[in-house]
Amino acid sequence: MIILSVESSCDETSVAVTQGRRVLSNVVATQIEEHKLYGGVVPEIASRRHTEAITAVCRKALDEADIKYGDINAVAVTFAPGLIGALLVGVNFAKGLACSLDVPLIPVHHLRSHIAANYIDSDLEPPFLCLTVSGGNTVITEVKDYTSFKLLGGTIDDAAGECFDKVARALGLSYPGGVTLDKIATVPDEEMYPLPVPHTEGVYDFSFSGLKTAAVNLIHKFDQRNEEISVPVLAATLRHRVCRILTDKTILAAKNSGYTVLALAGGVSANSELRSMLKDECDKNNIQLFVPELKYCGDNAAMVGVQGYYEYISGNTADIELNATATIPIDYR
Ligand code: KG4
Repeated sequence: MIILSVESSCDETSVAVTQGRRVLSNVVATQIEEHKLYGGVVPEIASRRHTEAITAVCRKALDEADIKYGDINAVAVTFAPGLIGALLVGVNFAKGLACSLDVPLIPVHHLRSHIAANYIDSDLEPPFLCLTVSGGNTVITEVKDYTSFKLLGGTIDDAAGECFDKVARALGLSYPGGVTLDKIATVPDEEMYPLPVPHTEGVYDFSFSGLKTAAVNLIHKFDQRNEEISVPVLAATLRHRVCRILTDKTILAAKNSGYTVLALAGGVSANSELRSMLKDECDKNNIQLFVPELKYCGDNAAMVGVQGYYEYISGNTADIELNATATIPIDYR
């Protein structure tokens, strides 16, 4: 079954061609350079750029997979969650394509597709536990089956990626800050740069907004006193604190719920310290860890196609009435 998939939930326009878990092509047109000018994603600009790019990106995906429109058996699309104007571009494009080709339309939840990035070129199968960390989400989920999820916990305020991005911006690092912060971070020093330990009622919940504000306030304090801050050391201190929280809560969730297989997903899964810290803890606790290839960590349509395949098998298709939705939990029915 050949699936053409579309992703436009934030600032990447992507179209892929997949067959089951196999990726035949995956074209990503990023808007990062433009949003860099503003220090973050400008939703109206994102929507416009998706509209401009999507047809050419689709053409390229077909060419690279060496297939024609007539070879497509279904069209999958990210319908939620994300920036509403950006999502609408992909959803309407996919609806038009599915309608004109007379093939099924498959709605795919963005976080489910991030998890599915782990299926590409791997033998991972549910059930397993997954930590999904991106710019807008931080959740621990039981993946009971390919389309059956149970949310164990999530952020009560900011996502980890948001915390990285905003502190990076205060440090004068370029957007997307999380990536730059990870690149320049050296050795943490918690005595020089003390940061709070966030508290949450829910044992598997996260809170990153206090940590973000504390780090930004620290940067402003140094600035007001005309004291120089070591950007690589503060970056490392914040990165270490965030990774420790993510790792400890996830390992605790795995131990308490008896999972011996764990996956990492979402844009922040590219973080070098998070990957190594989780690996170390998994090894210590006899847990098998799956991480997506770096090229599938950020937003891309290949993961949408792979999850779309499993959604299709479980009968989750949509008709021309499909609409984009800005927020919807991963365990929606
Ligand atoms: O999943 P994603 O591409 O987009 C959504 O939010 O859906 O995630 C983007 C987030 C941004 O916050 C970006 O700064 C962060 O992932 N990110 C990283 C790294 N690479 C991307 N954060 C920390 N370290 C990285 N290496």
